[in-house]
Amino acid sequence: MSEFLLTLALPEPAPALLAGAGTVRVLGRLPDAAELLRELDGVDVLCSQLRDPVSAEVLAQAPSRLRAVCNYAVGYDNVDLEAATRRGVWVTNTPDVLTTATADCAMGLILAVARRLGEGDRAVRAGRFEGWRPDYMLGLDLYGATLALVGFGRIGRAVAERAAVFGMRVLYTDRSGATPPAHLRDARRVSLLAALAQADVVSLHAPLSADTRHLIDDVALRAMKRSAILINTARGALIDERALVDALREGRIGGAGLDVYEHEPQLAPGLGDCPNAVLSPHLGSATHRTRRAMARVCAVNAVAAARGEVPPNAVNAPPRAGDRA
Ligand code: GLV
Ligand code: GLV
Repeated sequence: MSEFLLTLALPEPAPALLAGAGTVRVLGRLPDAAELLRELDGVDVLCSQLRDPVSAEVLAQAPSRLRAVCNYAVGYDNVDLEAATRRGVWVTNTPDVLTTATADCAMGLILAVARRLGEGDRAVRAGRFEGWRPDYMLGLDLYGATLALVGFGRIGRAVAERAAVFGMRVLYTDRSGATPPAHLRDARRVSLLAALAQADVVSLHAPLSADTRHLIDDVALRAMKRSAILINTARGALIDERALVDALREGRIGGAGLDVYEHEPQLAPGLGDCPNAVLSPHLGSATHRTRRAMARVCAVNAVAAARGEVPPNAVNAPPRAGDRA
């Protein structure tokens, strides 16, 4: 009988799928590394959350019974992939099913910052709206504006599709060098520096890794136009958040729309006081349908790994995993 450990409860159909393949234990809280390690005793598959510290230390000491870490997220920077691979542990994520929801969220932040909807909402509630005037709270037209997508994977491309409908010109940076699909052939691949210099809107869609940490630092922010806005629905640490606060305060960029934070859920000092920032609480995939779809993907991967099969959404290829079935 396989044992599945979930740090937090997942929506259906995950509980039903997992119960059909073994016993399911839900911790009900996010453990620190020491607690996670203790709880892994007797566990075949861990269904983890993006805040769970599945670190090199945890993986190195995890019981040899552990076959897989199935992260309930598309990002898996909380899992030490090398350490998992060394231990013969599969790591899986939940790609594809959250692409459109996350792209919608990015588009929402673009609109909210460009048209000052957060600032406007606060003004109305505070009784500071004195009626329509020709010069009141003017923002940026998306039609004809240039959007730079930093990262052109599934989510970046889905934002490009939405932006095209709004009449935006699309630039992108991409490390993979893959040819974009035919319907996005108007999008132009440029260097990061060119993207930052030309864009009215910069939106981040790269995974977090040692290479991309603080990709948007003080130098990058200084390369942006003074009117440009920065959007992040990927991972907070892609941005040096203190440098961003300075740029917003000094008016060196036009605004920011953030769904993720460097030290989530904490904000860098002063970020919450910047009127030109729209701040949402990591809602990229937060719709009923998307979270259920993610639960299915997570559970399908967990069950496959428990059965000794190759999980469909493995992001590593541990050499020993196949031998242990
Ligand atoms: C959410 O941030 C995810 O990576 O799925
Ligand atoms: C604005 O409300 C307009 O009617 O132009």
